[in-house]
Amino acid sequence: MNKFNDIFDSRYKQGKALFGNEPMPLVVEAIKTLKKDGKVLDLGVGDGRNAIYLLKNGFNVTGVDMSKEGLENLKEKAGNYQDKLTLINSNVLDLELTDKFDMIIGIGLLHFLEYSDIQKLMDWVQNHTESGGINIFVAKMMQNMRNNLPYIFEAGVLESFYTVPEWEIIQYEEEHRASIMARKK
Ligand SMILES: C[S@@+](CC[C@H](N)C(=O)[O-])C[C@H]1O[C@@H](n2cnc3c(N)ncnc32)[C@H](O)[C@@H]1O
Repeated sequence: MNKFNDIFDSRYKQGKALFGNEPMPLVVEAIKTLKKDGKVLDLGVGDGRNAIYLLKNGFNVTGVDMSKEGLENLKEKAGNYQDKLTLINSNVLDLELTDKFDMIIGIGLLHFLEYSDIQKLMDWVQNHTESGGINIFVAKMMQNMRNNLPYIFEAGVLESFYTVPEWEIIQYEEEHRASIMARKK
């Protein structure tokens, strides 16, 4: 795995809802346009605040995270929804999935990767999204206190991945973080 794995493992071990229990507003917005039994891939799913919300709303969720502890917390929280949940304990860069998804999200993930890996991942993500499907990504534009994140998004960079003919940007914002929701045509 990588140097952040131990940090996340020990943080997830301490608490059951590291990032709270509420889903990201963009995720809530996005599912209004998707069929309710659709397939979602949550990259860097963590302990699953978005995944749980999606499961409760009828979606089939595949969650990927390098942190075993995060996935264990999520599995516990998923309760009766476990039959609609697939968990993969892996680096997002090593995925060998062949499926396509109705939505792929990565909330708070990309700044843990090197830029060259982000480029490869975004390419993979876009190829694994169904036509009419949605992507949501949220990533930091400022260093954290330890100054150790491998990549911090500069203005326009996240948007530039979706400024291509096959994609329509539905929402894009930049503040201390960049967030995007886009639809594949
Ligand atoms: C800031 S947390 C966000 C968790 C979740 N998306 C949320 O919004 O609550 C980032 C997550 O990404 C995971 N992560 C970071 N780099 C990863 C990588 N290369 N492969 C898989 N997971 C990764 C971490 O383990 C952590 O659970």
